Amino acid sequence: MSNGSERLRIAVQKSGRLAEPSLALLRRAGLAFRSSRDHLFLYGENLPIDVLLVRDDDIPGLLVEGSCELGIVGRNVLSEQRLAGNGSVPASERLSLGFGACRLAIAVPEASPIESAADVDGLRIATSYPTLLAEWLHSNALRAEIVVLNGSVEIAPRLGKADAICDLVSSGATLAANQLRELITVFRSEAVLAVSPRKPTAAKSIQIERLCARIGGAQSGDGVRLLMMQAPRSALSAITELLPARDAPSVLSLDGRPDDIAVQALCSVALDWQHLEELKRLGAHGLMVLNVERMLA
Ligand code: PRP
Ligand code: ZN
Repeated sequence: MSNGSERLRIAVQKSGRLAEPSLALLRRAGLAFRSSRDHLFLYGENLPIDVLLVRDDDIPGLLVEGSCELGIVGRNVLSEQRLAGNGSVPASERLSLGFGACRLAIAVPEASPIESAADVDGLRIATSYPTLLAEWLHSNALRAEIVVLNGSVEIAPRLGKADAICDLVSSGATLAANQLRELITVFRSEAVLAVSPRKPTAAKSIQIERLCARIGGAQSGDGVRLLMMQAPRSALSAITELLPARDAPSVLSLDGRPDDIAVQALCSVALDWQHLEELKRLGAHGLMVLNVERMLA
């Protein structure tokens, strides 16, 4: 058992869109946790890795000051704080995690006459992401008055505080509920693994690399299927051509059946019934599709 100071800390959103999938990913990477009484700290039971449950906006700051070595946070939050800067070396993105996809978008009231990005010029835009918005305005040679709000941005137009908003959109339900129409995407985001700018100790560095490899493995298993079948050897090239495979399939000889082969291929979820039926038509049989839980390349 390593001592307390050598335990790694990962900051994760306490509640919100990324909270559940972040913990699910860590569990798939093999981490098991015991929750503290206040549910704000998860003690790693099988590895020296603990989780701190915090507000997502606090994650970049915790990384910068070195309270946590790692964090799972939206790229939008990370980029906003990196661009806003304040002299300190910012946290950086280590891995994109493939969940929590969303976009930072400008939206206007449904009845607004605004139709294109150019019409944004001169408007008052409410947002919690002033730096990302300012950067987008600048690169599009537009000017706008940025009204910084830290919550309930979507009600700003109704309150007369702004003509438009620039906020995160995922399903679009929040915009619809507030009679807002999406105009243009300013920034695309998803959950990422962020790392502290502070150099970790050698022991922590090993844990970080190990965890990253495991997360990569848990992720690459997502949406991957193992397809198994037997087939006539003569059909191999036709079969290979048909497969939505990631890599060349493994081909195995079968004892006492020189004309037949067994084929195993890693495929994406794009593999559907139609593929299987076509493979069958080529003479394949004993077709099986299995979920891949994790991979280590
Ligand atoms: C964002 C955004 C909206 C919502 C949009 O909040 O501020 O409230 O998601 O999602 P929808 O298009 O599916 O309705 P987020 O979950 O990032 O939480 P936070 O802004 O409170 O951190
Ligand atoms: Zn937030």
